[in-house]
Amino acid sequence: MDLASVSADLAALRQRALAAVADADDLKELEAAETAFVGRKQGALTAVLRGIGALPAEDRPRVGAIANEVREAVEEAIAERRARLAAIALEVRLAAERVDVTLPGRPLRRGSLHPLVETTREIARIFGQFGFVVYESPEVETDSLNFQALNIPADHPARDLWDTLYVDAPTNDGDRLLLRTHTSPGQMRVMRQTRPPIRALLPGRCFRHEAVDASHGFEFFQVEGLMVDEGTTMAHLRGLLDEFAHALFGAGRPTRFRPGYYPFTEPSVAFDIQCVVCDGGGCPACGRSGWMTILGAGMVHPVVLRNGGIDPEVYQGFAFGMGIDRIAMLRYGINDIRYFLENDARFLEQF
Ligand code: DAH
Repeated sequence: MDLASVSADLAALRQRALAAVADADDLKELEAAETAFVGRKQGALTAVLRGIGALPAEDRPRVGAIANEVREAVEEAIAERRARLAAIALEVRLAAERVDVTLPGRPLRRGSLHPLVETTREIARIFGQFGFVVYESPEVETDSLNFQALNIPADHPARDLWDTLYVDAPTNDGDRLLLRTHTSPGQMRVMRQTRPPIRALLPGRCFRHEAVDASHGFEFFQVEGLMVDEGTTMAHLRGLLDEFAHALFGAGRPTRFRPGYYPFTEPSVAFDIQCVVCDGGGCPACGRSGWMTILGAGMVHPVVLRNGGIDPEVYQGFAFGMGIDRIAMLRYGINDIRYFLENDARFLEQF
């Protein structure tokens, strides 16, 4: 070991180190080179310096000076390379994030209300003018509220009117859960939670075990109306529904009551409007009768009032229930109920 060979080693080390630094394509490679050449513990430079003790004492300062010079040169190259890599990374990122602010904007497509929502809001708006307030009621209902409290006992033949989907889940009190077959159980919830005078509107989704076709869905929408007050009569019901039909289908539209049957009303009626397709002449849409039934209604049965905690000797009420899908189909000339829930944009975009 002599001065000349150590100097040559250091010169070679310097060259290799600078080459490795220049070749480093990323921070990881750069740090590997740093550790390999100028790392304090394992670096090649440290290894050379360890051998310095074998040199004559007068040569050592010279070698130390060269070694320092090599370390400084390599560290400077590393610092430069590190800055350069950072600049490259920034350029790459900026290129990726580049935005051409001169491009025209992407158009935001304007949405619209679903025809069932729009129709529900219009119905609520009209009844709202008569003081009716919108309430919500659950879609998963109990047998007792969907049927029993509405004067439809278990095993009563009237249950055949509603093909029911039951929910297979236990309850605390042995009541059976089901998907509500109509919005009428909402009547019971409103009566039990508020006091007369009541003017309630209850829109929502209902479910029946139906064979699906153009006019029947197993999911459909109804809106229930309930008015309870002193001195409420069938004439109020008739007048209110007339106003409603005229607001929705035009002022001159003839209407009529027909006798009907529902267990929760007495008397019960069907409310018809003159066919909006043929104006009464008779066509396939109205079964050639010239009339279309748009809802069922009646005076709330005293048993139902009592179940709602209301004294039928003091208060009377009327109720009605209407299919929103059918109303929307009439308003927009839609001929198949299945369009509503298919979520086909070609259908929905038309509203
Ligand atoms: N709940 C009945 C049905 O789904 C509709 C109905 C009829 C509701 C008469 C009423 C009513 O409130 O009074 O077929």
